[in-house]
Amino acid sequence: MSRLWDTGESLDARVLAYTAGEDHALDDRLIAHDVAASIAHAAMLERQGLLTAADSAAIRNGLAALGREHARGLWRVELADEDGHTALERRLTARIGAAGGRVHLGRSRNDQVLAALRLWMRAEAGVLAERARAVAAALGTVAEAHAGVALPGYTHLQPAMPSSVPLWAGGFAAELADDAAGLAACARRIEKSPLGSAAGYGTPGLPVDREATRAALGFAEVQEPVTAVQLSRGKAEAQLLFEVHLLVQDLGRLAADLVWFASKELGFVALPAAMTTGSSIMPQKRNPDLFELARAASSVTLGALVEALALPAKLPSGYHRDLQRLKAPLFRACDLARTTAELLAAALPDLRFLPERIALPPELGAAEEAHRLVLAEGIPFREAYSRVAVRYRPG
Ligand code: ARG
Repeated sequence: MSRLWDTGESLDARVLAYTAGEDHALDDRLIAHDVAASIAHAAMLERQGLLTAADSAAIRNGLAALGREHARGLWRVELADEDGHTALERRLTARIGAAGGRVHLGRSRNDQVLAALRLWMRAEAGVLAERARAVAAALGTVAEAHAGVALPGYTHLQPAMPSSVPLWAGGFAAELADDAAGLAACARRIEKSPLGSAAGYGTPGLPVDREATRAALGFAEVQEPVTAVQLSRGKAEAQLLFEVHLLVQDLGRLAADLVWFASKELGFVALPAAMTTGSSIMPQKRNPDLFELARAASSVTLGALVEALALPAKLPSGYHRDLQRLKAPLFRACDLARTTAELLAAALPDLRFLPERIALPPELGAAEEAHRLVLAEGIPFREAYSRVAVRYRPG
């Protein structure tokens, strides 16, 4: 089995394994997008008179069929393919014959992978924003179910002021809605069409229509000039990973509150039994493992963000295989964000806050007392503060 670039030299199997790396596993999620971009590219070639109508139709139908079959699990990218782009072109040629060898005119895997990744990121950012909003909606359910339930508001982990379940839930819901907006804002970098930049320097001698592939794929703009394309690889990824990290950090802080609120010492909330796990030695225990692992997830997303920022950092311009390593952290972080959000959205509506366990000590009213003195007597806040402070002085 050979690579697209095979000219007869044999390749050390260890080098194939090392350089293909995880691509055969990772690229499966890019296949549908590579199919879409390849169909757009072939249609453009036909309009430019670079493909006959018959070859163009064979390519379009062959790619569409391969895409459908891949979606049904009938084939997968294999290590011997090296990557998803090769897997697709090889199978296309096996299916439609010589016409398959015409699809790569005017493109390179370097612009191909960017097109597929950006289409994937566009879809993924939308799904993650929707998942963030679903957690916010679940928090709305929690607030409604516990409309009159008070909670201490904490600073420094010390009871500080009166709060409530709706106020607590509302804060997280607002931040999650903001995270969803942050994910949507990633479009600025994602929506640039790399196609036609080919290896990074365009397609000398070939009348490729970059605007046509841009329009077909719905990108907002053609990325110009061609030399900008490879310089930008990793930037949309890093921006998306930054927003993903903020989302996962908010989910983790929500989970951290719940672990603490559900501790035996506080006991403010009962976690849904199906969402807790047991101990192998202590039969009396139910543990908040889901919430602890959600709390830990932001260390993974931060690591992924750092990887994405570090990878291109000191590279000279142009394509480098280093850039391939951007895919693993991107997928790893997005997958974790998705499942973390999905599980928290599933768990939240079954939370049961226990008002009988929640007592607000009288000193939580100290600031309010001072505010009332100011309003009643017109004295400076500092004076009201001192008068109230005497009453709470220790000893
Ligand atoms: N798997 C490669 C990547 O993600 C695709 C591009 C390969 N290009 C190349 N010149 N070897 O970067």
